[in-house]
Amino acid sequence: MMKIAIESGLLRQIETEALIVPVFEGVREERFGAAELTDAGEVTGKYLELTLIHHPQEVAARRVLLAGAGKVETFDAAQLRRLSGAAVRLLKTKSVKKIALALDPAQANGENVSAAVEGAILGDFEPDRYKTGDEKKSVDSFTVVVEGGSPELEAAADSGRILAEAQNYTRDLVNEPANLLTPLRMAEAAQQMAAEYQLDCEILYREEMEKLGMGALLCVAQGSAEPPALIVVRYKPSAGESKAHLGLVGKGVTFDTGGISIKAADGMEKMKYDMAGGASMLGAMRAIAQLKPAIPVTAFVPCVENMPGSRAVRPGDIVTAMSGKTIEVINTDAEGRLILADALHYARQQGCTHMVDAATLTGAIVVALGHLNVGLFANDDGMRDRVLAAAKAAGERMWAMPLEDDYKDYLKSPFADLANVGGRWGGAVTAAIFLKEFAGDTPWVHLDIAGTAWIDDVKPFVAKGPSGVPVRTLVRLAMDW
Ligand code: BES
Ligand code: ZN
Ligand code: ZN
Repeated sequence: MMKIAIESGLLRQIETEALIVPVFEGVREERFGAAELTDAGEVTGKYLELTLIHHPQEVAARRVLLAGAGKVETFDAAQLRRLSGAAVRLLKTKSVKKIALALDPAQANGENVSAAVEGAILGDFEPDRYKTGDEKKSVDSFTVVVEGGSPELEAAADSGRILAEAQNYTRDLVNEPANLLTPLRMAEAAQQMAAEYQLDCEILYREEMEKLGMGALLCVAQGSAEPPALIVVRYKPSAGESKAHLGLVGKGVTFDTGGISIKAADGMEKMKYDMAGGASMLGAMRAIAQLKPAIPVTAFVPCVENMPGSRAVRPGDIVTAMSGKTIEVINTDAEGRLILADALHYARQQGCTHMVDAATLTGAIVVALGHLNVGLFANDDGMRDRVLAAAKAAGERMWAMPLEDDYKDYLKSPFADLANVGGRWGGAVTAAIFLKEFAGDTPWVHLDIAGTAWIDDVKPFVAKGPSGVPVRTLVRLAMDW
């Protein structure tokens, strides 16, 4: 675990292996003996340009890393988060363990301090738990230096640490292979996390689900030798009566083969991340337990493995969801919406007044938005705006998609109340429309994270693999309620 600190002393006295100094475009940096580099055009302040100086002048730090921060007018917390991550990732390849970042007093607000800390912790993460050998590198300490800083910044650094650690917890969970993280193991992981942070945790097993009539959830599980589990984690604020009760519902498919409508072999190994929505809810609860928002929050994570076993649900099968609605299963690969249908209904029954779900639900959302934006669908404008505001504040990109009732026609079945898939077009919308049937009149937002929960391309500020989106947004939503 990285040690996080705030230092309010003089920059030049900071003892550290490397001091990260943001440099803005068009601002001539001459400190630390950098004048020559600046004049040679090697230090321009261009965003994410990194220049390492050994034996810097005028400071006690062993190295100074000049970090391009771009234009001062467009610089914000999101950019600082990435800058800090990129700097940490470069330094750790050089085995630097003790790092400080200089924040100009003009930039020294809580948002920025938190973002700098988040960036460092997120940047330090590697999905290498199962690599043996001693070449693994990580950073021991990260200090934000604000000359003459205030005590509020201390709290901001701490909440940044809590958020980023929770996000990394989610990333670790998402990265677990499906042989090691079965539905029951995921439930155990939730129990362990809940015990550590004094949250209430309850697991519903197959028998309870049968009693509750969760036919949609159970039909997905029936093709696998691994039994299903529905994780319920509860946070209650210690004081005050809140009318609102936030429900966080996350898809927990520990592996998605597609079932009888089996997926192509190419890239199927990635389908271990099909529980990223559920893992995000557990990560969010981990942070919520520590940051203590004023409203009660309950997470519901239906966990199943989607396999084509001899008991598997077949195309054409008709199942009855807990709500009483009948569903014709046209495609067994559209399993996420089936398990979420029952989890959403259960969350309402448990008293949630507002709900957010997150799911790696459709390939279609990746076609629509690429890997940059989470697809956001809402049945309520107020709820949509709340989540969009939280996302903006947390530095996670989300884009509102349509959810008009006319799309419901796409899900018509001649034999049941609705089919589990629409036609060829608008796949992310029809998936959301399906869920909407089970959210009822509860204000609800659906986040399709199929394109954003996993990072495939190399980025300077984070490792490839699980992103931990949308943990920060969910926590922010609860905190700002
Ligand atoms: N887990 C997948 C969605 C997915 C696809 C995530 C690609 C990440 C990358 C989901 O269960 C699924 O298979 N959805 C189908 C729905 C279709 C059968 C209507 C899809 O998107 O192809
Ligand atoms: Zn699927
Ligand atoms: Zn899936």
